[in-house]
Amino acid sequence: MTDRTVILGIESSCDETACALVADGRTVLANVVASQIDMHARFGGVVPEIASRAHVEAVNSVIERALTQAGVPPESLAAIAVTNQPGLIGSVLVGLMAAKTLAWTWGLPLIGVNHVYAHAAAAGLDGEPVDYPAVALICSGGHTALYRCESPTRLSLLGTTIDDAAGEAFDKAAKILHLSYPGGPAIQKAAEGGDETKVAFPRSLLRGASLDFSFSGLKTALLYHVNGVPGARADHPRRQPGPARLRRESQPHAGEGIERFTPQEIADVAASFQAAVVDALRIKLRRACEAVCAKTIILGGGVAANAALRSAVTGLAEKLRIPLRLPKLAYCLDNAAMVAALGYYHLREGKIDTLELEANATVRG
Ligand code: KG4
Ligand code: ZN
Repeated sequence: MTDRTVILGIESSCDETACALVADGRTVLANVVASQIDMHARFGGVVPEIASRAHVEAVNSVIERALTQAGVPPESLAAIAVTNQPGLIGSVLVGLMAAKTLAWTWGLPLIGVNHVYAHAAAAGLDGEPVDYPAVALICSGGHTALYRCESPTRLSLLGTTIDDAAGEAFDKAAKILHLSYPGGPAIQKAAEGGDETKVAFPRSLLRGASLDFSFSGLKTALLYHVNGVPGARADHPRRQPGPARLRRESQPHAGEGIERFTPQEIADVAASFQAAVVDALRIKLRRACEAVCAKTIILGGGVAANAALRSAVTGLAEKLRIPLRLPKLAYCLDNAAMVAALGYYHLREGKIDTLELEANATVRG
């Protein structure tokens, strides 16, 4: 064999059971993901008990498929990396137990990694090494955070959401608009034929130079736009305004329930909502890049699959003349290649865990 360092990564923190083999933190040899989306769709969100049970059922075959795809025998592996935080505790535990079992059986080092940091490490997959310091904007269903990155393993939090995550906002908005689950792709699709200037939704930028995010006001603005402001009477315009400035000539049914909206009106609302989320993310990302003098911008997490966000961040990077690392879609959504990549950098720094490694549901930092 060559002297490459191959890490097997395992991810199970939410609703994807995933295993990947990655060489030297960048070359993906196999990337297998078993998604549970169909199991959770009818509940409109991830049901933790269903998720952990589905992980148990999928994990062995996902690992076997990844090993077969990569054609790498266990004795050629350098380590087992696994997400041990943050996530749904029952889900994280399944991947962690599988990783411990493999590490013990094959006599390999075990490396626990932070799922959110792993989203940032995805920037180095299938590409050139990243130039640091970098600013990483990681937005997913559970997290929306800006980091200053000195390396793949040294991240410091610059700002985070004070309420909903960006992906959560998309998921809740899709429910309000009676669109499918998961909400992000559904809103993006609905927004395709829409006019984002039709509804002026608020951009919550918080005080001063804050790098934190807030999306709950935007969600409420959407809810009021669709269903009306609670307690407001239609014949009393001064009690009617709501947080979004309604352009009633183009939204005749605003406030009357989604059933009264035409497909074009739904497209306009979806496009306007998406634009408000993207604007807030872009503005804070710009502030962070300027504060950090970033040499690279990294975008990661499931919401980084959003075409409008990708194009806004591409435009920002060009304007600021900062190289952008935009992982391909498969590495934005939850996957284990990013876990193996981050595991590689831990290994290089000698950061190895014992079989006592614990799972944590929440971690800040
Ligand atoms: O990173 P991820 O796969 O799982 C978590 O760690 O949460 O992110 C899932 C989130 C969901 O909220 C989903 O609606 C959102 O990413 N998402 C998108 C898109 N694709 C997935 N949001 C906006 N536009 C998309 N195209
Ligand atoms: Zn994620």
